[in-house]
Amino acid sequence: MNEIKFRHSANPLVIFGAGVFSELPAMIDDIGNNILIVRGASSMDNNPAWNDFIAALAKRSIRVHELRAEGEPSPEAADEAAEEFRRKSVHGIVAVGGGSAIDLGKAVSAMIPQKGSIEQFLEGVGTSKYDGFKVPFIAVPTTAGTGSEATKNAVISRIGRGGYKKSLRHDNLIPDIALIDPALSLTCPPEVTAASGLDAFTQLLESFVSPKGSPVTDGLARSGMISFAGSFERACADGSDIGARSGMSYAAYCSGAALANAGLGAVHSLAGELGAIRAVPHGVLCGILAPAGHRANIDAMKKLPGKYLSTLEKYSEAGGILSGKVPRGWEDGCGMLVSVMDKWTSDCGLPALSDAGYTAKELEEAAVKAENKNNPVPLSEGERLAILMKNFK
Ligand SMILES: [Fe+2]
Repeated sequence: MNEIKFRHSANPLVIFGAGVFSELPAMIDDIGNNILIVRGASSMDNNPAWNDFIAALAKRSIRVHELRAEGEPSPEAADEAAEEFRRKSVHGIVAVGGGSAIDLGKAVSAMIPQKGSIEQFLEGVGTSKYDGFKVPFIAVPTTAGTGSEATKNAVISRIGRGGYKKSLRHDNLIPDIALIDPALSLTCPPEVTAASGLDAFTQLLESFVSPKGSPVTDGLARSGMISFAGSFERACADGSDIGARSGMSYAAYCSGAALANAGLGAVHSLAGELGAIRAVPHGVLCGILAPAGHRANIDAMKKLPGKYLSTLEKYSEAGGILSGKVPRGWEDGCGMLVSVMDKWTSDCGLPALSDAGYTAKELEEAAVKAENKNNPVPLSEGERLAILMKNFK
């Protein structure tokens, strides 16, 4: 056994289970009586639990401000909301929705105590150091995907030419409470279930093979993949299956907790660059790129099996988990992994990148700008472009 050494940050409190949403008013009461609720574009619109929740807050004389997250948060959206709710002196923020709502809530909670624009604190964009001060923040996911309820970053997007997707990051940005109620995802439409699920899976697999991983993140990723394997197809086929929804919510939480510490690899880097060019859902991009991206990693490592044996064995283990079969050696397991991912991508009917509106020139630009950070093996620009071109019809 090698020496064990790691640094791991995590939520102070995670509450998980169908029905735990009813505990939220009491938690908000502990924070204060002037609260901002950030919601997704349509999150909870037709859910009767929402009216009960608002009534419970009124009963406790809690003043509620509401903000809708329209798409992935831009720097302007974060700045405007921070300015408004700084003036209104909110005591805390609760985000109820998918990754966009949670990231917007996180960003606003961070920016209320700061001066200036969020852009100055974004990695790779600004030069100021974010000090970690924020107002209390509770994350309540209604989709099973980004795992933002467990991560330490808020992704801010400027989409279009010269655009970016960059993070505001700090250990303190991990939500103070992650309240995960799988029943809230029962009304999530099949296409969002599939895309969000593929995002969660990509995060689990990239964390699992990351050189920055630890025994803790390996355990989270392994547990998340086992849960994912037993739930993904079921949740896509029957959205009302609470067991499958529960398994997906758990897998998504594990993916966030793992990636917050192990980081992500080339697939996410490429998905980030493409997502900055066009407003294609992040999960769709992850689903499109994951099979070719991991195949490229496996092929690159196969050239030096002595150096990369432990990672190839991890890919093989993931193949065994997903296929439910015992691999006969790592090559067999890697093959199982790639074929299961190919099947998901075709079952989910994901578009080719060209059908999603991308041009060959845009793919070239994305391949140049993408990085190998936390990828198990360095990929050349040409190898990154080949991943993209495999999905360009
Ligand atoms: Fe992701």
